[in-house]
Amino acid sequence: MNTTPGEITLRFLAQPTDVNFGGNVHGGSAMKWLDQAGYVCATTWSSRYCVTAFVGDINFHKPIRVGSLVEARARIIHTGRTSMHIVVDLYSCVPTACDMERSVRCIMVFIAVDEEGHPVEIPTWEPETDHDRRLQQYAMRIMELRRVNQAEIESLKV
Ligand SMILES: CC(C)(COP(=O)(O)OP(=O)(O)OC[C@H]1O[C@@H](n2cnc3c(N)ncnc32)[C@H](O)[C@@H]1OP(=O)(O)O)[C@@H](O)C(=O)NCCC(=O)NCCS
Repeated sequence: MNTTPGEITLRFLAQPTDVNFGGNVHGGSAMKWLDQAGYVCATTWSSRYCVTAFVGDINFHKPIRVGSLVEARARIIHTGRTSMHIVVDLYSCVPTACDMERSVRCIMVFIAVDEEGHPVEIPTWEPETDHDRRLQQYAMRIMELRRVNQAEIESLKV
């Protein structure tokens, strides 16, 4: 794990137990790793226990082969009063020819909570570069879309 504030990387091997029926890593395993990396990023930033409130914009770009070296990279791109908006990527390569490629990306929102599960205030993350500001705008756009989509789905029967 690195120590840049607001960023973390977890590194591990994709195990035979992570396999799907097609011989690659199961989507559910990939989603668990995304959640774990986002969780570590959020808890280290806030120094609090955090819960997942939202997962969005998830894209599976490339399959991950069992036996691959996997990096789960998470970084904060926006904070609210109690929420941390985090982009999480899975990169992978086979250890014998390791050229890391991005396999999965998503955005997640974690909320810092107290012992009763009530949201608590967190330190603010400030963008420093134009790239940071664009990522922050992306996070805010996703939240606006979430509000619109949620209002629509609430009004529909499924
Ligand atoms: C997430 C949770 C703590 C929010 O509680 P709440 O009473 O709705 O809290 P509030 O309305 O005060 O909102 C708190 C923050 O959460 C954000 N939030 C709540 N629901 C959200 C959602 N679905 N997506 C994104 N952000 C959300 C709010 O925008 C607010 O952010 P801010 O403080 O930065 O402005 C609560 O809904 C919960 O416990 N959900 C279940 C979490 C869970 O079980 N996760 C899976 C296992 S970890």
